[in-house]
Amino acid sequence: MNNGFSQVGDKVAINNKKRVVVGISGASGAILGIELLKILRENPDYETHLVISRGAEETILQETKYTVVEVMDLADKVYDINNIGASLASGTFKTEGMIIIPCSMKTVAGIACGYSDNLLLRAADVTIKERRRLVVVTRECPLSAIHLRNMLTLAEVGALIMPPMVSYYNKAASIEDMNRQIIGRILEKFSIEVKGFNRWCE
Ligand SMILES: Cc1cc2nc3c(=O)[nH]c(=O)nc-3n(C[C@H](O)[C@H](O)[C@H](O)COP(=O)(O)O)c2cc1C
Repeated sequence: MNNGFSQVGDKVAINNKKRVVVGISGASGAILGIELLKILRENPDYETHLVISRGAEETILQETKYTVVEVMDLADKVYDINNIGASLASGTFKTEGMIIIPCSMKTVAGIACGYSDNLLLRAADVTIKERRRLVVVTRECPLSAIHLRNMLTLAEVGALIMPPMVSYYNKAASIEDMNRQIIGRILEKFSIEVKGFNRWCE
């Protein structure tokens, strides 16, 4: 399969933009990662460093109209998940933090155990050890005690557990509006404003 990794590293960080690491793993909701990348692409102050898991390649194909290569094109820099020697694997590579969107239970388990056998897991491990912001958009239903324990472990080390919960107060007219609201809550944690994000009582 042509997974587009020939494009990896094509676009090099060349400026002082703030770096946000984005991981897309194989939970349902790949569109959330895609929409988040699209929003960040429009923000001149930030650049995105993207890692896509093998599971996510599958969900992107099954759930969205995008190809994996099209998703990669939305990021400033893309990394091969197997490249555990990439910049993201080191704490010396400065970033604002990492968002894993969506985050599968397998990836949650890997992070919770410090089992960093791919670049997405290693980047999350680095984010935690460097005490940077880590947002995990965990998605599974129902959640087993194992899932909940692993998420608690991450919360205890400071990660923000932000499952893609639907807000009802804003009366979203479409799934797109709903997704935008979820992404607005996430990017708020990086002080990034999202157009169309509805705040309660504003
Ligand atoms: C269409 C599809 C939807 C899936 N949805 C979920 C999900 O919502 N949550 C989850 O934890 N795993 C889900 N999985 C299973 C994961 O993709 C699988 O466990 C995979 O090994 C995760 O690996 P990764 O975290 O490295 O991407 C889904 C798989 C497919 C094909």
